[in-house]
Amino acid sequence: MPDALTIALSKGRILEQTLPLLKPLGIEPLEDPSATRNLVLPTSHPSIRLIIVRATDVPTYVAHGGADLGVAGKDVLLEQGGQGLYEPIDLGIARCRLMVAGCPGVELGGRRIRVATKFVNITRRHFAAQGRQVDLIKLYGSMELAPLVGLADVIVDLVDTGNTLRANGLEPLEHIADISSRLVVNKASMKLRHREIKPLLKQIEATVSGPG
Ligand code: ATP
Ligand code: PRP
Repeated sequence: MPDALTIALSKGRILEQTLPLLKPLGIEPLEDPSATRNLVLPTSHPSIRLIIVRATDVPTYVAHGGADLGVAGKDVLLEQGGQGLYEPIDLGIARCRLMVAGCPGVELGGRRIRVATKFVNITRRHFAAQGRQVDLIKLYGSMELAPLVGLADVIVDLVDTGNTLRANGLEPLEHIADISSRLVVNKASMKLRHREIKPLLKQIEATVSGPG
């Protein structure tokens, strides 16, 4: 399938929540994505294939033409800047919030604070907008641990049910942004493959907005 339209998805919640949106369009992977180790998956649609990449790599694949389309969390797009991409549809999936969180009663006023996060750009912008300079500690996961062991005063992380914060004795302190996943499209593909992509976008939009 050298000319197949390529859609980049990440394993886990984005894949799980995107497949039901593609199914009504006749796009279903021919093998179980959670079981296979193949990273290129043909689909029931003869000219559409899926590729499986890390969630944080979706914008890179799409911006550089490794994929024509992709599904990326708004958190990832805000953090990376979203250059070289169109972001035409909010898919409304993988919803959560970006929050500042910390130990109950933590005092942030007045002093310079240490903030642990994988979202260093979003975090810097958030506190700069409050006129605060912060010391950023870049982590790649398990952010909730940082305040518990004294690595940081607060964290910036994604919160959905709040269970992870609660389980670690932390509480949400400030709301930064509501997050959902977006369909992203390579700018050159949007021009050169407009005839294939445009109807696809229309169908996805109709599926997302539902019959009402
Ligand atoms: P990577 O593998 O690149 O580190 P990841 O492990 O963050 O990425 P996922 O956990 O699958 O990948 O998250 C993908 C996207 O889903 C995130 O970018 C975010 O938009 C959203 N998300 C993350 N955690 C939650 C959650 N608890 N509830 C709902 N949506 C979430
Ligand atoms: C995300 C996020 C939080 C958790 C929040 O982690 O980093 O830790 O979800 O969700 P909750 O408020 O419903 O508890 P995830 O479960 O994706 O783990 P991972 O980032 O380590 O894959």
